[in-house]
Amino acid sequence: MICIKNPIQLAKMRSAGHLLHDVLAAAREVIAPGMTTMDLNAFVDQAIRKGGGIPTELGYCGYPASICASIDDEVVHGIPSENVEMKEGSIISVDVTLALDDWQADSCFTAPVGRISEEKKKLIQITEECFWQGARQAVNGNRIGDIGHAVQAWAESHGCGVVRDLTGHGIGREMHEDPAVPNFGNPGHGARIRPGMTFCVEPMITWGRWQVHTLSDGWTVVTNDHSPAAHYEHTLAVTAKGLPEILTLPGFKWKEEEA
Ligand code: MF3
Ligand code: CO
Ligand code: CO
Repeated sequence: MICIKNPIQLAKMRSAGHLLHDVLAAAREVIAPGMTTMDLNAFVDQAIRKGGGIPTELGYCGYPASICASIDDEVVHGIPSENVEMKEGSIISVDVTLALDDWQADSCFTAPVGRISEEKKKLIQITEECFWQGARQAVNGNRIGDIGHAVQAWAESHGCGVVRDLTGHGIGREMHEDPAVPNFGNPGHGARIRPGMTFCVEPMITWGRWQVHTLSDGWTVVTNDHSPAAHYEHTLAVTAKGLPEILTLPGFKWKEEEA
């Protein structure tokens, strides 16, 4: 069941989204070679709680940490560890979900650790572009398949792969609500997009082939060919008219909406 949010509920989701934005912006600043993913987990956990939020990944289906930190060929759900140091030349995806006043926000970015290859820079850029291509389809009257089709077309036209095993999702009081928002699909197919729908668009894009497997820790998803992967995610709200509001990007305006 797709849950449409009213303006009061949207205001709460906006507050949660803005807190998450601030937390992730601060996290981006502290990423550096030599820092462990457990240090980053502690930093983010503290920032969330200082802002009055709750890290909702912690304990979710038994997940043992407050962030997902996925390095290089790890696509998603990398578990922070004091034995994993960020290394110059790596890329790291930091995916965080929090609740503020019982409403969830979910966002992820992929960042360089120090200097990285041109290929990895390109992968991060294409993945962010995939998000924007998908997000601009999230308008009243479109279908969920329009989003996936746009993401997939952008990725594949640049020679990248689209991970099929995981999808974006509705979000609200729960981290994961209906509908699923795949990063692939057919235009004109799937649920109708309506005002007050809130969901996460989150392309998971590979430099090589898109097939993935899960490690024996039960969480970490890795590319089969060990090519690097990137992940970029925001929580958005569909508006009555025009392009969606990006709840995890305060002050953002689409270029069409600028005066
Ligand atoms: N933030 C993830 C998402 O984008 C979910 C994290 S899974 C967890 O849907 F187990 F870490 F919570
Ligand atoms: Co997420
Ligand atoms: Co998500």
